[in-house]
Amino acid sequence: MKTHRSVHELVRSAYGAAAKNSSSCCSSSCCGGPKPAASEGELGLSCGNPVAFSKIKKGMTVLDLGSGAGKDVFIAAPLTGPKGRVIGVDMTPEMLKLAAGNLLKFTARTGLRNVEFRRGVIEKLPVRDGEADLIISNCVINLSPDKPAVFREAFRALRPGGSIVVSDIVLNRELPPALKEHAGLYAACVAGAQQRREYLGAIKAAGFKGIKLLADRTYRAADLELDPFTAKAGKTLDGAASSITVFALKKK
Ligand SMILES: C[S@@+](CC[C@H](N)C(=O)[O-])C[C@H]1O[C@@H](n2cnc3c(N)ncnc32)[C@H](O)[C@@H]1O
Repeated sequence: MKTHRSVHELVRSAYGAAAKNSSSCCSSSCCGGPKPAASEGELGLSCGNPVAFSKIKKGMTVLDLGSGAGKDVFIAAPLTGPKGRVIGVDMTPEMLKLAAGNLLKFTARTGLRNVEFRRGVIEKLPVRDGEADLIISNCVINLSPDKPAVFREAFRALRPGGSIVVSDIVLNRELPPALKEHAGLYAACVAGAQQRREYLGAIKAAGFKGIKLLADRTYRAADLELDPFTAKAGKTLDGAASSITVFALKKK
């Protein structure tokens, strides 16, 4: 049985290595595998596109849980404009370093100074109550050892009337015990994923209303071949996991 601390250490070490290797773009045991980011940075480790589903307006404060190298932060920031803000939270120092480098390029390119990265864990967010209008997250909550705590924190950090749009991996059936304990599969965002019903239940239990699935795609064995960890378990994993994007509202 993994403790919360040991899960954080495992994840930090996998994503620290991914951040360090990003310039050589090697394969990784991480969620989604390295892909080119839309603007700043080389590292996008995502399983959806929460910004595309978010109706970001000028002046909004957007919070990105597990912001990594900042891919979604840098897409959201021009949409909020100079009067808005985007805050990325991540617990891996190497990722924050990569994000800081990307921020310099972003500022030089856009002239915007509305982005901030904070070090912290998503189970205890380094933000004030009601600070955010919108919370996004891309392939991160599955890595948390305490998903109900993440949704409770998201609820606290949102202003009444605010919403979350999160892309993540959920399970459609139980994984065999050997796969559940596999560290590489954990970092690859599969072994730590929750059953779909539990995941949506945790959002509801945190107090959110109007929960809606905006995207839902089931992984087949062929999709998993690109990643060295998931490829080995290809047949067993066929159809076992889906990438979903969920909307939920904190009512006024
Ligand atoms: C799969 S990557 C996704 C990064 C980014 N959202 C993207 O789409 O490129 C997961 C990121 O979440 C961070 N992370 C994982 N668990 C976390 C936690 N409990 N608290 C804070 N950050 C976490 C990792 O450090 C890593 O940067």
